[in-house]
This record gives sequence, C-alpha cells and structure tokens, in this order.
Amino acid sequence: MRASEDPVSEANPVREEILRWLAESVPLERQSIEALLDVPPSAQMGDYVLPCFALASELKRPPAEIASELAGGFVPNDRVLRAAAAGPYLNFFVNRPLMTSHVLRQVHELGADYGKADSGAGKNVVIDYSSPNIAKHLGVHHLRSALIGRSLYRIFEALGYNCVGINHLGDWGTSFGKLIAAFERYGDVEAESATVSQLQELYVRFSREADQRPELQDQARRAFQRLEGGEAGATELWKRFKATSVTEFERIYRMLGISFDSYAPESFYLEMTDEVLRRMKQSGLARESEDALIVPLDDYGLPPYMLRKADETTLYATRDICAAEYRWRKYRFHLALYVVGGEQELYFRQLKKVLELMGHQWAERVEHVGFGLLKFRDAETGLLRTGSTRQGEMIPLEEVLRSGVEKARQKIRENLDKLEGGADPDELAAQVGIGAVVFSDLSVKRAKDVVFDWDRMLDFEGDTGPYVQYAHARLCSIMRKAGEEVSPEADCEPLQLPEEWALVRLLERFPSRLRAAAEGREPSMIANYLLELCAQFSAYYSAGMREAQRRVLCGDEATRAARLLLVSAVRHTIRNGLALLGVAAPERM
Ligand code: ARG
Repeated sequence: MRASEDPVSEANPVREEILRWLAESVPLERQSIEALLDVPPSAQMGDYVLPCFALASELKRPPAEIASELAGGFVPNDRVLRAAAAGPYLNFFVNRPLMTSHVLRQVHELGADYGKADSGAGKNVVIDYSSPNIAKHLGVHHLRSALIGRSLYRIFEALGYNCVGINHLGDWGTSFGKLIAAFERYGDVEAESATVSQLQELYVRFSREADQRPELQDQARRAFQRLEGGEAGATELWKRFKATSVTEFERIYRMLGISFDSYAPESFYLEMTDEVLRRMKQSGLARESEDALIVPLDDYGLPPYMLRKADETTLYATRDICAAEYRWRKYRFHLALYVVGGEQELYFRQLKKVLELMGHQWAERVEHVGFGLLKFRDAETGLLRTGSTRQGEMIPLEEVLRSGVEKARQKIRENLDKLEGGADPDELAAQVGIGAVVFSDLSVKRAKDVVFDWDRMLDFEGDTGPYVQYAHARLCSIMRKAGEEVSPEADCEPLQLPEEWALVRLLERFPSRLRAAAEGREPSMIANYLLELCAQFSAYYSAGMREAQRRVLCGDEATRAARLLLVSAVRHTIRNGLALLGVAAPERM
C-alpha cells in the first residue's frame, strides 16, 4: 500500500486503517479527514484524534453526540484496538507494536532516503540565492540567503524536484563606471592584485571626492559608457573586479559547503534587454516618462517599475525581467524562488506584476522568499547592530566565520579529555563552528530577525546546532558500543516505555514535516523538528543513565535488539534532517 502523496515511504498501516474507516463512516472527503486527523496532546488521551467540530457543522448536530455515536459504531481490529469519545473528540488507540515495527523498519530500510518522496519528479524548481554584488564583500543578507536557499534546494530535491541553484551575481551597473574611473585616477592600486577590501575602499574614496568635484561624476559616466561599449581597457578592469570578488565569495561558500548550478550574472542578460524593451514599448506596457522608461503600476497600488533611466542606462529591474524570461525558456520551471531579503518585498511584487502584465502565465510561479535581518550583538556595548553596508558598517563575514571556528576549537580543546577517540579536533571545530552558524540562522522562522551570538550558538545544551550534532554523535557511540548489526527483524513488542513510543511518533512525522517545510519554504520547520526529536531522545537517554533497565544496551537480549533498532532510526532521521539544513553530522564528538 502506498500513500498517494508520499510514494517513497510506505504509508503507516495504522493511520491508513483509521482513515479508511473514517472515510466510510463520515460525510467528509478523505483529504479533509486527513487534515483533521491529529495527534492528541498527551499519549494517555489516545494515539490519534478526530475533533468533531467540522462534522458538527456539516451534520448540524452537537460534536459530542457525533463523537460518541462514531465511537459506538467502531469495530476493533488488529491495527486499531479501540475508539472512544471524550467530549467533542474521537480518540483512537492503536496497536502500538505494529505501528512501531512499521515505522522502525521503514526508517531502517530507507536509511538516507527516509523522508524522501518523488512527488516533484519531472518538475524543475529554480532557486536564486546569495546573489551578491561584486567589488564588495559578501553581505550578511547574502549569507542568510545562501543558507536558506541551499536548504530549500535540498528540501525540494528530497521531494523529487529537480533543483537549479542560481547565483545571480550583481556585476553590472553604473557603480562599476565609478570604480574604473577610480582606478584610472588614483593609480596606486594594482588591478591584478587588488583585494575586495581595496576595491571597496577605492569606491568610497572616489564617491567622496566626487561629492566635492562633480566632473568626476562625468568621468564615471564615461567610464561606464566605455564598459557598455565593450572598450578593452574598461572591460579588462571590470573582469578583474569580478574574478577577485568571485574568488573571495567562493572561499566563503566553500567554508559553508555551498554551491550553485549556475553563476549567470546580471551582465549575462544585457544582450536580451533591447528586445525586451522594444517588446514592452510596442505592447504599450512601457511608457516614456520624463525621459525615463517605466511601467506604471498605480492601477495595482504599486510604484512604477523603472526599465531605463534618463541617461539611457538600464537597471537591475530590467535585467530581472530578462532573467525571468530566460529562466522560463531554459527550465520551464514549476516554481521560481527568489531568496532575497525582506527589504525587496515590494520590488518583487512589482516584478511579478510586470511579468503578469507582459502576458506570462508562468508569472504565478514566481515567488519571493523573503527573510529578516541578521543582527550582531556588539561584544563591547552589548547592543544589536545590523551588518548592512548601507549604514556604513561592514561585518567582515569571512572573519566572523573563522572566529566561530576558532571559538569552537577552543571549546573542543578545553574538553579534549572528553573527546571521543578517533575524533579529529580540527575537523570537528570546523563542523561545529560552521554548523552553529547555519543552525542558528535556520532555526528561526525566516521572516524573523536573527541575532548572531556566539555564546548562545555554541552552547551544547541550548537549542543549537552543536546540541543536535552532539545528540547524533551520542547515538553513533551507542551503535558502536553495541557492535552488532541492527536487525530490522527485531520484535518491537519490548518497546513499552512512554519515551519510546514518543520517539516513534516523532519519527513517523518526519516525512510530513519535510513536505510542510517545502510548502512553507521554511527550513526552520526541519530545524525545530530536530530540536524536538533530540529533546525526546535526551529524555530517553538520561532515563537510561539513571536506571539500568532503561538503558539501550540493557541485559535483556530482545529488548536490546528492539532498542537498537529504535536508536538507529533516530540516528538516521537526525542525520537526514541535518543534511537538509546543510549541517555536518560528525560521528564522534
Ligand atoms: N544582488 C542583489 C542584492 O545584493 C540581489 C539579487 C537577487 N536576485 C535577483 N534576481 N534579483 O541586493
């Protein structure tokens, strides 16, 4: 038997039986029943619950009456042992060992594939993430975008979609005219060896001077025209800026394990702009206004979308139209996600509206995935600040990440005696330091602001990446100590502890959490699921520390075999969840 929406893992037979019986017994569609069927807040109340309010309004009868009538008509079977009404709720009590062995065998069999589905097979999802501007350091928002984008990539991929990760590099615009003019004016920085910091400084220096001397603005404009015209000297310099910037970006991406399928930058779309502008003018959509070319959007309560400035230069916005059309032609996407900070929300509403007005039916598949700010707590003042360059502040991201790894290294060195044999402290420091950053970012709902706080992020007991990593390593250590093959045939009858049942329930929910994370474009759902699972596992584990009978590796052979199967399933699931977030799962800590 296979559940319609999740063809990779087999449906839970117990839940299926409840759904089947309900579909026969109540006047609701299977889909609505599925949406209503829930897990009661405590396991004593039951294993599944159907709240009868929706039925009550359908049948125009009191919900408690419906619940007790349904309970009365329920015929027990080997999968579902009992149904009982509690006020307006209908509770089901299931054959726990049966469900347990179903879930645990499933996880064991699927291993790294547990949670995966193929509902997205044959569909392309294009994800635009990170997408920084060259000749500047990677901004903190480009980091958040990269982390969220990479995770969404893995989440959609796990559901069978074919993902395309695009780094839409900002490599075009009048600011590069300024930079070229600055190089030519000052001549004290070698283009071949200029670092990104130097490029940034040159830009600032030139802009400051240009504020006093307007003729420099003209120089910059001319330099940009030379670049647009393909003049060799200007082009050569621009290529240098780009190569230097990409080298720096890639160093950071490598630290984070982030990659892309395409680096098609803004300049890639230049050759398409003339045709697009012509088309938009011809159709009457674009209009000249004070020498600029715009698409008026006041009918939709939006500001006009600017396509060309009075000085004839095109814009970021123009290139995004070309990029969207190009992506559609190339990928025929099911979904085109733009993981870009919340400050561009309005801009993406405009872009989508313009694409729609151009007659593109696929505009509805274009979606802005926004996110909040990343704030830093200042070590000296204790105040929060954002890492935005616009406020003149610059957070050197690479240094921030390195210092995190360094802090993790210190922490590991201090506890070297507790470190498991075979663990490499340096490799572990990188995995824990980076894992801490990634997890702390992704455990917060993306629309919210994230506060960057090393002490909190690296706390092995807090809701952190290292905490989840540590739980995983502990599971690995139990498996190593057991030193025996996990047997999927183990009888699950001995798993009678409430903590064990709670773990099984959580494991069973992983595939649906994965789907929900994709639907909500919300990696935090995975991160929070992992925290829940680890908390449940820790409770189980600490109980075992206090009481020998509750230990995984206990004396009774049958119990031990069943518990090993359970622990192994928890380990697989944590590892799968961490992979979806892009966090390493070291086996020894
Ligand atoms: N480069 C832009 C920025 O730094 C983000 C680009 C996002 N992607 C896009 N297709 N507009 O703000």
